[in-house]
Amino acid sequence: MNRRTFIKSSAALAALTAPLSSVASSSRAAAPGDTINVGLIGCRNMGWGDLQAFLTHQEVRCPALCDVDSQILSDRAGEIAEKYGKRPDTYSDYRKLLDRKDIDIVVIGTPDHWHCLQFVDACKAGKDVYVEKPLANSIAECDAMVAAAKRYSRVTTAGQQQRSGKLWHEMIEYLRSGKLGRISRVHVWSNFAYAAMQPLNPDSAAPQGLDYEMWLGPAPESPFNAGRLHGSWRMFWDYGGGLITDWGVHLLDMALWGMDVKTLPIRTLAGGGNFLFPDGAHQTFDTMSVVYQFKDFLIEWENNSGVQTGPYGRNYGLSFRGANGTLVANRESWEVYPEGDRTAPVKVAPSGNDHLAHVTGFLECVKTRNPETPCTVENASLCAKYSHIGNIGVRIGGGALTYDDRKRKFDVAKANSYIRPSYRSPWKFPEI
Ligand SMILES: NC(=O)c1ccc[n+]([C@@H]2O[C@H](COP(=O)([O-])OP(=O)(O)OC[C@H]3O[C@@H](n4cnc5c(N)ncnc54)[C@H](O)[C@@H]3O)[C@@H](O)[C@H]2O)c1
Repeated sequence: MNRRTFIKSSAALAALTAPLSSVASSSRAAAPGDTINVGLIGCRNMGWGDLQAFLTHQEVRCPALCDVDSQILSDRAGEIAEKYGKRPDTYSDYRKLLDRKDIDIVVIGTPDHWHCLQFVDACKAGKDVYVEKPLANSIAECDAMVAAAKRYSRVTTAGQQQRSGKLWHEMIEYLRSGKLGRISRVHVWSNFAYAAMQPLNPDSAAPQGLDYEMWLGPAPESPFNAGRLHGSWRMFWDYGGGLITDWGVHLLDMALWGMDVKTLPIRTLAGGGNFLFPDGAHQTFDTMSVVYQFKDFLIEWENNSGVQTGPYGRNYGLSFRGANGTLVANRESWEVYPEGDRTAPVKVAPSGNDHLAHVTGFLECVKTRNPETPCTVENASLCAKYSHIGNIGVRIGGGALTYDDRKRKFDVAKANSYIRPSYRSPWKFPEI
């Protein structure tokens, strides 16, 4: 007897009219062999990758897809039909997907400016949620999402898959062993060509088959421009935050985890601008440094968009500088350079698939109703806030600032206007 037939036939639950997914939110664990229905919102790139990982699990089905680009939607539905034998229903309005009672989990793979509304609406509809990173495109949206997950008792996680990586767990273990000695500085860097090299595009009519109004959603009114659409939206403030939100949440997450930081920094010093490619089709900064001050160490962020080289021969990564040595890490490996020792560094290579492990870990939590998912929204919110504070520091002209998470205010008045976006009508900022 699977979970659904059990619910239908149980006398004790006979009067229960709540949707199945609300039932799934109770403390009762799902029986092994239950079918879990996943609905995907945003099918082009990462959301699709997430869904593939879910579908490697025997019990997972995908009966519904949503995208505002009809070509992407029908292509993806066709791929599922071919691989799994049944074509999912397709929607261009995510609210219709959320109306379905048979959907247990919603995966959100849309651009960042949509995460908050879709996440909150999914929670309200009684769904569990796997939302892509960064958690949201602003500080206030992060708070709303954390509140919604709590208020509606949903099992939720963010797509910061390194949290489930064996390589990273081993790195944390090494850091905790104390072998590096006192750690004074964590340097995090991210240098990618894609973040500054997009060609300038004239505005144009939106392509046929794209519901551009629904792509913009709560973001400010703006003429269509192909250079801000699929993937490229990352470099425009209304939809994304550049490298520090795109890569920053992944890598800052590792820095904060490594240093066991669970709060915002005492003070942040930020500087940068578009110095390398001032005429490129991007608003987010190609050159940026942020120093986060703690009581007895620093975490530093650096990005150089448009170039692909970096310290230790790595274009992205992080280093923990300890009294006894420096640990350098990225997704490809981590290694330790002992201080004063010229022997080859200890090198640890990755094993397993972080992304699949992340999705698998989340599914386990859904089945057991465990809110301590591989990357909780609280953790994702913290990492996203670090990124947003860095961006805001540069957007106000650089300098030092402190964000008070309790009062929800910066100590620099002009920074406060960046905390919460104004949603374009008819969309309303979710009040939880
Ligand atoms: N975890 C990771 O390693 C990782 C990697 C890449 C991207 N991401 C994250 O995944 C998210 C998506 O990034 P991407 O690269 O896939 O972007 P993308 O632009 O390639 O895809 C986004 C998709 O969402 C669709 N969409 C936009 N608005 C929609 C709406 N209102 N309803 C339904 N569909 C809508 C678009 O048409 C498109 O198909 C971002 O938040 C990004 O940061 C995470």
